[in-house]
Amino acid sequence: MLQTSLANIPTPAYVADITALRANLATAARIKRETGCKILLATKAFAMPALFPLMREVLDGTTASGLFEARLGREEFGKEVHVYVPAYKESEFDALSDLADHIYFNTPAQLARFLPRVKAKGKKAGLRINPGFSNSAIGGDLYNPCAPCSRFGTLPEEFDQVPWEELDILHAHVLCDCLHDSSAKLIDLIAGQFGDIVRRVKAVNFGGGHYFNHPDYDVDVLIAAVRRFRAQFPHVEVIFEPGGALVYEAGYLVTTVLDFHRNQKDIAILDTSANCHMPIVLQANYRQPLIGSGEPGEFPHNYVLGGNMCMTGDVIGEYSFPEPLKIGDRLIFRDMLQYSFVQNNTFNGMALPDLFVLHEDGTAQRDSAFGYDNFRVRLGFSASKYQSESE
Ligand SMILES: Cc1ncc(COP(=O)(O)O)c(C=O)c1O
Repeated sequence: MLQTSLANIPTPAYVADITALRANLATAARIKRETGCKILLATKAFAMPALFPLMREVLDGTTASGLFEARLGREEFGKEVHVYVPAYKESEFDALSDLADHIYFNTPAQLARFLPRVKAKGKKAGLRINPGFSNSAIGGDLYNPCAPCSRFGTLPEEFDQVPWEELDILHAHVLCDCLHDSSAKLIDLIAGQFGDIVRRVKAVNFGGGHYFNHPDYDVDVLIAAVRRFRAQFPHVEVIFEPGGALVYEAGYLVTTVLDFHRNQKDIAILDTSANCHMPIVLQANYRQPLIGSGEPGEFPHNYVLGGNMCMTGDVIGEYSFPEPLKIGDRLIFRDMLQYSFVQNNTFNGMALPDLFVLHEDGTAQRDSAFGYDNFRVRLGFSASKYQSESE
């Protein structure tokens, strides 16, 4: 039982559930097997090197958002390393193009600047396009790459400036937490509206956002769409680079009730923080699922759950419970592996939650503990360094 397995770990803690992760990877394995596509892990969504060996059994590599993630992918995951950055930095490009095998560009101008160096190293080049279709299921335009004035992807009116014959990969990342109908729509749209450029490249990367482990996602529809695409373009390889789907519902954030307050409503203060540990809650006004709780009013005991720091808006949300909460109660938020610890922070000196792995036999093992050093290192040197330098 989950609560028993997690009863003694220190909180706050993120917990990766190996059983759930394996089930998610099995879906990825099936999609690969039945379509012949490649699937990469988008490390911006989730990156826990201890679990990379398990993921590597199924996945073809990683996709990075910059130099550090590319290095992580190369050193810790292995296999293929893809990278897409809206604008490459001159000072980083050589190192990045040593680490990555597949380098994706945002615009014809970026291509003109860097493509000769990609070719000279024998690496593969891609171009991200903005097909004008998105279907972001969360966060409105916050996560919509085709939103008005989006900086992502070459627009069709610029396609005549692209040296298509020199490119290997067409890249269309436009989805976010989307179900099968959006995946199929994207694939069919690229095949229909952009078939002339698909014919000129060797692979199409349909990006991330295909939420294929969500219970409402019909994987058969995705498989059928990829097969249709491959029948139309037999020489073109298909790539996906999901993040969220691979770790969907595969982990938790365990937190403890520290105290209560009353101001119009009952407020429970937790040893976590929406701002520091659950960033999507504030970014996207997201309601993080919480085991044993309901919507406000669903159960008799309602609480506003708040973080233990100074920002007034550090509120996780309002939840109801069948029994009153008590100091020391443990609350377990679900679906806490994606976009969680990859973007947490130590604002207010909040400690970062430890990382745990929940094994299939129910034992919880600590992967990492974070402490004062992780807070201190980002604040720069001590004054004593400057004193000793000026002496
Ligand atoms: C270019 C790119 N690829 C892949 C992903 C992963 O998306 P998801 O985690 O929604 O599958 C993202 C997410 O923002 C992205 O920007």
